[in-house]
Amino acid sequence: MRITVTVDGTTYTDEVEPRQLLVHYLRETIGKVGTVIGCDTSNCGACTVHLDGQSVKSCSVLAVQVDGSEITTVEGLARDGRLHPVQQAFHDNHALQCGFCTPGMIMQSIDLLAENPDPDENAVRHGLEGNLCRCTGYQNIVRAVRDAAHKMRPGAGPDAERVEHSPSHAVGGE
Ligand code: FES
Ligand code: FES
Repeated sequence: MRITVTVDGTTYTDEVEPRQLLVHYLRETIGKVGTVIGCDTSNCGACTVHLDGQSVKSCSVLAVQVDGSEITTVEGLARDGRLHPVQQAFHDNHALQCGFCTPGMIMQSIDLLAENPDPDENAVRHGLEGNLCRCTGYQNIVRAVRDAAHKMRPGAGPDAERVEHSPSHAVGGE
């Protein structure tokens, strides 16, 4: 089957198998290897991307289902050579060790902040409960998300209100 999909600001048209998972399409067909596979069974959240502005686990979506859609991966977040404020906050707060969970954590965190721009610790933990990390103990991840929330607040500087939640806000790749 043929699909046309926009990923990180670039439009692709490809033939896909009816049973091909979106995560395999992203990684193997168009080379978006920043989106990783941790489990393939919808448990870990490592494969999270934004589909038409909402976070989804891309191992739980078929490639044929995204025909006509707009997808943002972790590779499409940086803008003009600057990390997205959530990416920067993960860096600044040492919110990763091996980094395997990080692409999915960041994509889910951005979605979380779009829903709730000022989450307390419980709200962050609740919002990220579908994303597993085997290294960090989550403490610095929670800190990073709250730090990003602070920096993205209106009037907080250049990163204020930079929330990639709807297709109209989606940004292209570097
Ligand atoms: S690889 Fe998709 S949830 Fe684990
Ligand atoms: S940093 Fe290793 S799994 Fe999260």
